Amino acid sequence: MSALEKARRARLARLLNHEDARRAAARALPRGIREYIEGGAEDEVTLRRNAKAFRDIAFRPRMATWVDRPDLTTTVLGTRIALPVLTAPCGGMRLVHPDGDIGLATAASRAGSIHVASSAAGFTLEQIAEVQGPQWFQVYRFSSRSTMEHLVHRAQAAGYSALVATVDTAVSGYRERDFKNGFSYSMRVNARNAVKLAPQLVRRPAWLARYVLDGLPFEIPNTAQITADGKPMMLTEMTKGGAGSHSPTWTDVDWLRANWRGPLVVKGLLTAEDARRAVDAGADAVIVSNHGGRQLDGAPATLHVLPRIVEAVGDTAEVLMDSGIRRGSDVLKALSLGAKAVLVGRLPTWGLAAGGTAGVERVLELLRSEMVRTMRLMGCRSVSELDPSWLGEDTIPLHSNKKEVKVR
Ligand SMILES: Cc1cc2nc3c(=O)[nH]c(=O)nc-3n(C[C@H](O)[C@H](O)[C@H](O)COP(=O)(O)O)c2cc1C
Repeated sequence: MSALEKARRARLARLLNHEDARRAAARALPRGIREYIEGGAEDEVTLRRNAKAFRDIAFRPRMATWVDRPDLTTTVLGTRIALPVLTAPCGGMRLVHPDGDIGLATAASRAGSIHVASSAAGFTLEQIAEVQGPQWFQVYRFSSRSTMEHLVHRAQAAGYSALVATVDTAVSGYRERDFKNGFSYSMRVNARNAVKLAPQLVRRPAWLARYVLDGLPFEIPNTAQITADGKPMMLTEMTKGGAGSHSPTWTDVDWLRANWRGPLVVKGLLTAEDARRAVDAGADAVIVSNHGGRQLDGAPATLHVLPRIVEAVGDTAEVLMDSGIRRGSDVLKALSLGAKAVLVGRLPTWGLAAGGTAGVERVLELLRSEMVRTMRLMGCRSVSELDPSWLGEDTIPLHSNKKEVKVR
């Protein structure tokens, strides 16, 4: 191992939790990219709600127990995974670090889990599929059925084991931080935005050097084969002018079910009615998600709506969830409320910024070790034992309600 690599590993070993990872990412990235990751839509009410929902739930531990090695393994859509945490589809990852989506997929595979490759990845879906291990492909509609169809046929040929239709992105959420920073991961640098960007970029010379050496990747390579001139589209080009939903609609979901050979997952649902509708359309799993608070501001915390969706779906489909997971204990709370597994978006992205593939491995290892310690403290032998009986009635929301009553 080179001295440089040793120093990098030592630096990553000093990241002890999600907050350390977030701060390391902030030190590594220009402001526009840092805030592109961290930010949410509009007033970021849903973004904050996600985090609060996890904090507000208490465990009901079983004391005087000894659990030697808690079992974290589970299955999702028939695939055995060693960690019930998938890396969520995230666009623009090659701006974060040249390892980008390949780094996320590699780290997920090394952790014994699954990466969900984004339609808006920085590498082509074929390049990402070359990483060893099971992977799912997330599909956007990109305003037209033919664009979606094209991606689906390619994903099938590339060997992805499941297709994830993200349905909460009819249009992009209004992420005001991106506008203020002059940043969008689908833009071209021009004289106007360069003035805004330059001061951010010169403050991060290491990032800038890596980005230049990586060939200034700003586009969405998956779209290269769709345009007549063979050039990748910009996301803004694909969504402008109300040309149609950016996400698959229910009619598209029917098409996906009829044309995708393999498990179909619908991501971005928040109500029992929509979850049942997805199952009726032939979905094998649903992902309860508010896109990490990046789309509809005012949407509920996913943890709050999860139990109703689990109840509505029953054993007709698997239920996964994401949005706001930062700790191993958060994963355990979601699993206790019926999620089969969870996805993490920002957390691995911060790891990626902090140290490329090794940084993602570090944050996944943190999650794993937090889960193990928490389960030992709870007296829980296996994630398969988790159910609502592991969570307390005496939660912070009840206390804060009482406080509100007292104040009045
Ligand atoms: C930077 C970034 C880019 C994202 N891009 C996509 C995407 O291309 N497709 C998608 O379905 N979801 C996308 N998401 C949403 C994630 O898949 C996931 O739902 C969300 O990040 C979960 O919340 P968390 O970040 O709090 O873990 C993105 C999220 C982030 C943070």
